[in-house]
Amino acid sequence: MVTIAVRAARDAARVLMRNYNRLDTLNFTDKGMHDYVSEVDRIAEQAIIDILRDKYPNHAILGEESGSHPGDDYQWVIDPLDGTTNYLHGFPQFSISIALRHKGRLEVGVIYDPLNEEMFTTSRGSGVQLNDRRLRVSSRKSLDGALLGTGLPYRDFRFTENYMGMLKDLMADTAGIRRPGSAALDFAYVAAGRLDGFWELGLAEWDFAAGALMVREAGGLVTDISGGERHFETGNVIAGNIKVHNAILRRILPHLDDRLTA
Ligand code: IPD
Ligand code: CA
Ligand code: CA
Repeated sequence: MVTIAVRAARDAARVLMRNYNRLDTLNFTDKGMHDYVSEVDRIAEQAIIDILRDKYPNHAILGEESGSHPGDDYQWVIDPLDGTTNYLHGFPQFSISIALRHKGRLEVGVIYDPLNEEMFTTSRGSGVQLNDRRLRVSSRKSLDGALLGTGLPYRDFRFTENYMGMLKDLMADTAGIRRPGSAALDFAYVAAGRLDGFWELGLAEWDFAAGALMVREAGGLVTDISGGERHFETGNVIAGNIKVHNAILRRILPHLDDRLTA
């Protein structure tokens, strides 16, 4: 199933790359640009679905663009372009994310960065690979010297005050905080030890289903922002090696309110 997901990710990557290279030659209004990219998202998702459906006609699918397609106990969770804003601006950080769940449990995750030709793959119980190399989370023991990833609120500003409090408390003690713009890749980077930890509010399942399995399979921890297991329900998530994860959690807890944990 990893092989099929990899094939699907490569197919979607071809769609993204073909159009990425054309973006600066086409003259767009903002709205036109947006519609064009939505179309690219849609075509890339369809390319993934065609490959999955051909091999597994009965599996269910949840795609960011086409929504929920019912099926059996297996469900593919797809983000055909994670980092749309970056893609639109020619900022070279975006990815394709494909996960497979069986009866709700994550089994497979594939995240592909076509610009760097980095294919991150995982399946439950067998670790994480980047191309042919085995990955582990970092061994950093505290926030001291840690590099963290995050996502700044950009559409939903209800929790900006809470978020700013978290940022303020975390940034004082780390080596730095990055906002790369593709949550799926942020998780892959935690699995690779490039980031020691990550947190974001308001993610969707397709942003981090593959990434969550990857971080766990690389020896890390993924929880919701109160340290529980409701991250896919709330979209509020912390990931990291176990020590850094716990340190992030401790700094975040004072900034929570009922709206964030409900
Ligand atoms: C977004 C990216 C971004 C994160 C947003 C997501 P999209 O996904 O993952 O890093 O901060 O919350 O919505 O819209 O580019 O697929
Ligand atoms: Ca996304
Ligand atoms: Ca997307």
